[in-house]
Amino acid sequence: MIEKKIKLNDAYALKTPEDSIKLYKKWAQTYDSDFALDSSYQSPKKISSFFEKYSKNTDTPILDVGAGTGLVGELLNVKGKKEIIGIDISSEMLDQAKLKDCYASLIEADITRKIPLKNNSIGAVVSAGTFTHGHVGPEAFDELLRITKPGGLFVLSINSKVFIKGGFQEKFLKIKDKISSPLFKEFNAHAKHQKERYNEVRIIASIFRKKK
Ligand SMILES: C[S@@+](CC[C@H](N)C(=O)[O-])C[C@H]1O[C@@H](n2cnc3c(N)ncnc32)[C@H](O)[C@@H]1O
Repeated sequence: MIEKKIKLNDAYALKTPEDSIKLYKKWAQTYDSDFALDSSYQSPKKISSFFEKYSKNTDTPILDVGAGTGLVGELLNVKGKKEIIGIDISSEMLDQAKLKDCYASLIEADITRKIPLKNNSIGAVVSAGTFTHGHVGPEAFDELLRITKPGGLFVLSINSKVFIKGGFQEKFLKIKDKISSPLFKEFNAHAKHQKERYNEVRIIASIFRKKK
């Protein structure tokens, strides 16, 4: 039987962490070619360049949340090898990331639950494509703040369509005393594409630090 190609709408239709495990198990081997390359996916490039712009040498180690096949890790290492930990719920996506040899370690875990990392141990949190429809919501911020060192940097992509509806705006207000005033930078998730569906996807890069 010929398998149907997985599309953006399949990913946006997910509802639970178990749905993510099932979809990304099927998608892992073709994600880079059929999705990232074919759709001119820009988020990993944008997030890593915001990291380059706003980070200091002391923002280490870096945690890549929803690391997937490792597109962010690969780009972060272009300007000098960094200590990057990848975390993802899909073991098959992490298998692909491992092949890129850009992570110091990889953790298979659901970031909406307790994250298996110590308090104040992470220097920076980066993420592309994970805070979006049917994936991870703002509930993960509490655990991410717990594991991040005082002063640690966050560079997160948040899909603009879930920013208010998904409770991210409200969460930023709730945690305002724990973080610096966030910078919000909007960009297109995909470079100009013949498929209008891709051109509609806007991302709000959210950049802030945990207060000291
Ligand atoms: C669209 S992919 C993005 C992958 C990579 N960051 C990129 O930009 O190409 C979303 C990733 O989030 C992961 N994910 C979804 N729900 C998760 C959860 N609850 N905990 C950890 N990872 C999750 C998926 O397994 C998938 O690898």
